[in-house]
Amino acid sequence: MIKKGWFQKKLRGYASLQGYQKPQKYTGVLKLDSNENFVIGKQYQQDLIHNAQKISDVREYPLGRAEKLVDALSKYLKVPQNMIGIGNGSDQILDLILTNFASPQTRVLTSEPTFGFFEERCKLYSIPTTKIPFSKDMTLDLSQFMEKLKNSNILYIDSPNNPTGFQFLRKDLEKLVKKFEGLVIIDEAYGKFGDYSLINLSKSMTNLIVVQTFSKAFGLAGLRLGYFIANKNIVDVFSRVIQYPYPLNSIAIEAGILALQKPQIISDTTNTIKKERKRIIDNLRKYDAFEVFDSKANFVLFDAKGADSHVFTAMIEQGISIRKLGKIGKHEGCLRVTVGTKEMNSKFLLAIRDLLG
Ligand SMILES: Cc1ncc(COP(=O)(O)O)c(C=O)c1O
Repeated sequence: MIKKGWFQKKLRGYASLQGYQKPQKYTGVLKLDSNENFVIGKQYQQDLIHNAQKISDVREYPLGRAEKLVDALSKYLKVPQNMIGIGNGSDQILDLILTNFASPQTRVLTSEPTFGFFEERCKLYSIPTTKIPFSKDMTLDLSQFMEKLKNSNILYIDSPNNPTGFQFLRKDLEKLVKKFEGLVIIDEAYGKFGDYSLINLSKSMTNLIVVQTFSKAFGLAGLRLGYFIANKNIVDVFSRVIQYPYPLNSIAIEAGILALQKPQIISDTTNTIKKERKRIIDNLRKYDAFEVFDSKANFVLFDAKGADSHVFTAMIEQGISIRKLGKIGKHEGCLRVTVGTKEMNSKFLLAIRDLLG
């Protein structure tokens, strides 16, 4: 017997969820709120799209094109093609992993905070989560994870973490991952700004998925290109059975292939971002009003000690949008700023100096 009102009940349940909180859209402001990459030049990006569009025919489904992207990724990452899967942004890959491998009966082990989209997806699908909180200095304690492994089915770590910028020491994360027998998802969206990648481990492990993206280091967030590296059996099932037939559009695929042909541009921009990250951290640390945390990503998290709304509004008034995160653990007023171009970062630091100096 079908229960009357089942749909309305389900809909009410979903309506009570918050969903992923995107930053507010302001016009004409410096956008330092979404960990995008503006160091990659506008012209580079326009040329990429122009050239991608010249070789695409969007009247056709992108049959076989995704394989070409996988081939290009395989050369770039030095990983066999049958160990690479693709998705419409890494968001979609994470979502498909959750919908197909997790359920209300499987427990996810992750950190608090973790990537907001992943957390919201677990809520949407009623997947129970165990969250290990960050310590006061915004680091994670490996032993707390070790203890909880036995009661978990899936381990999700964003490495480096969004929004803290923390990355475990390689030997610690490897120890954790090797000990776990369930499914391990290591989200390396910011991996290029960090100290290492776990890609090589996926060559010897059958339960590890390393997720990466073109959105951050490659500066192509708008194209929605994500990929992952895993054992060939996982990739086979994901690509043949789980993934949509045509998850990526033709122009994005071609642009991705072209971007992979110029790896020097990516490593140059990444190095610039790392240098600028240090400049932002060093400058913000001059103010007693802030506690500034180390970062291995393309953003910096700082606690404005209760004055987060004030700082956030003052930045908007100066035409700069940063991300207000509020309370994280014992820190009352956290803000996160993306590392932009030198000019953008200088404007941000000047605005902070005007406010506090
Ligand atoms: C940790 C983490 N993973 C994944 C993503 C999603 O990236 P994509 O643009 O590939 O969907 C983000 C985006 O901010 C992120 O912070």
